[in-house]
Amino acid sequence: MDLPELLDIAEKERQTQKAVHIRCCVAAGCVAADSLILREKLQAAVIAAGMADQVKVSGVGCMRLCCRAPLVAVDDKTQPDRSLLYETVTPDQASAIVAALQPTSISKTKCEPLQRGDLTHPFFTRQRSVVLENTGVIDPERIESYIAVGGYQSLHQVLREMTPHQVIDAITRSGLRGRGGAGYPTGLKWATVAKATTKGELSVTADRKFVVCNADEGDPGAFMDRSVMESDPHRMLEGMAIAAYAIGATQGYIYIRAEYSLASRRLQLAIRQAQQLGLLGSQIFDSPFDFRIDLRTGAGAYVCGEETALMASIEGKRGTPSPRPPYPAERGLWGFPTLINNVETFANVPSIIRYGSDWFASIGTEKSKGTKVFALTGHLRNTGLIEVPMGTSLRQIVEEMGGGVPGGGTAKAVQTGGPSGGCIPASAFDTPVDYESLAQLGSAMGSGGMIAMDQQTNMVDVARYFMEFCRDESCGKCIPCRVGTVQLHQLLTKIRSGKATSTDLELLEELCDMVKHTSLCGLGQSAPNPVFSTLRHFREDYLALIQSAPSSSDSSRANHHQE
Ligand SMILES: Cc1cc2nc3c(=O)[nH]c(=O)nc-3n(C[C@H](O)[C@H](O)[C@H](O)COP(=O)(O)O)c2cc1C
Ligand code: SF4
Ligand code: FES
Repeated sequence: MDLPELLDIAEKERQTQKAVHIRCCVAAGCVAADSLILREKLQAAVIAAGMADQVKVSGVGCMRLCCRAPLVAVDDKTQPDRSLLYETVTPDQASAIVAALQPTSISKTKCEPLQRGDLTHPFFTRQRSVVLENTGVIDPERIESYIAVGGYQSLHQVLREMTPHQVIDAITRSGLRGRGGAGYPTGLKWATVAKATTKGELSVTADRKFVVCNADEGDPGAFMDRSVMESDPHRMLEGMAIAAYAIGATQGYIYIRAEYSLASRRLQLAIRQAQQLGLLGSQIFDSPFDFRIDLRTGAGAYVCGEETALMASIEGKRGTPSPRPPYPAERGLWGFPTLINNVETFANVPSIIRYGSDWFASIGTEKSKGTKVFALTGHLRNTGLIEVPMGTSLRQIVEEMGGGVPGGGTAKAVQTGGPSGGCIPASAFDTPVDYESLAQLGSAMGSGGMIAMDQQTNMVDVARYFMEFCRDESCGKCIPCRVGTVQLHQLLTKIRSGKATSTDLELLEELCDMVKHTSLCGLGQSAPNPVFSTLRHFREDYLALIQSAPSSSDSSRANHHQE
């Protein structure tokens, strides 16, 4: 494969385009609402209407407003301002969508009227697509579709025009930070792995490095990484290949949870297609660079998203965390230097190479560059997948994009960062979304779950829910987390049932402090965060339950009376 051949594939694919393009979402949310049948029916309706020469039907990735699944969009090249969105479409409505393309024809199909979406709503117009540039646009199951929008040209550029050092420099200058939660500078991590010279444990291969993509995505409410993999799998593979060239690796792994079956299938297909075209494997683009990618499936333990547990799982050991240092960048898989990045981190890379570090650094805030993809869920009118520039305020996301609470109420809080994050009150909704601002409020950017809650939500319930999650997912290796999360959950249950005293509240805070400072890994260290943040911003929810509990002297009087 060389550049002219790549461009030739792109050109041929572009020639398959027709005057009208019907895009039907075939990501998991819409597939669950029968979109695969819908796509077939749309294709059949186009043929039945004799419009196959003018109309192309494609399956595409997530079209973002997942709460109205399944979604269908219609782009008419002859009327560029006539992009239509149809929501909650049923397979029976396929012929009505095709009939609507012919203004003079009257649909004879008896079906529910089509529900039109509003593409001018802030839910769509406030988004800025970098990672999701091709999501909902290209067919995730055809490599030609990715190549037609410039896919694999960034990989060609780095292999032909850049040294590994220049690639690392470009990522460093872009200001990209890891999207897996902690926000560690990506360029710095790549530079550390590139410099590392640790000898591993496999005697046959003296000098190796690995690239690992963390696709474990276990936070409740999070589906950003899954959507990227289902919608645009080649983007992530290209980002991994660029990283491998930069750090000197020849083998990559994608660690993906078993529940993500559609994403796994699409990634496997994408890897096969890329290998067939010589874009993965040996001598990529006829250069000396070799790089293979294999999938490793996790069994759904949340802790296996933690990088040392993840590596143990790939090595075939029990997936439990180990103390750091040594960090994976120095001593990773089988003792060799290993680069671990999140799905979204890798998915940013082709765009940074293509459009430049300065372009990327011009988006976002001073310390948080680029965009962030969020899975917006909870008590909102509009929920789904969003990508916004860093620095967008929570108010813009919750009230404008999310459309506020259904039925006209106001939101009480928004939860970010999953079990290691916290709840932010409505009074702080003008906070810009960036790593530092969310941390200052006692929450975290996390990997991108964002859950809005209405006024009826009791924040003790929220804290208890996340503690239950951590208790169940604790691997049990260290006592503070194994026992502490059980005790914290019991205390929260006692508070919620109105039986707690102010001494229990003091105990809760003391125990949270202990678990945070003495646990071995991030799971235990951050498990108390939802309690800390709800105590800080919603202490009244706790006090209301404690004040309503009978005091110890009241209950001893009652017991005495019964005797
Ligand atoms: C309990 C726990 C679960 C985690 N789960 C994930 C995950 O699902 N995906 C992810 O990318 N990072 C996860 N992380 C963070 C990873 O350990 C690691 O920091 C990240 O993959 C690094 O990638 P980045 O630099 O691109 O953010 C988790 C951390 C902890 C402590
Ligand atoms: S903090 Fe929890 S999850 Fe992490 S090693 Fe200890 S017991 Fe396991
Ligand atoms: S899964 Fe179809 S719109 Fe998100």
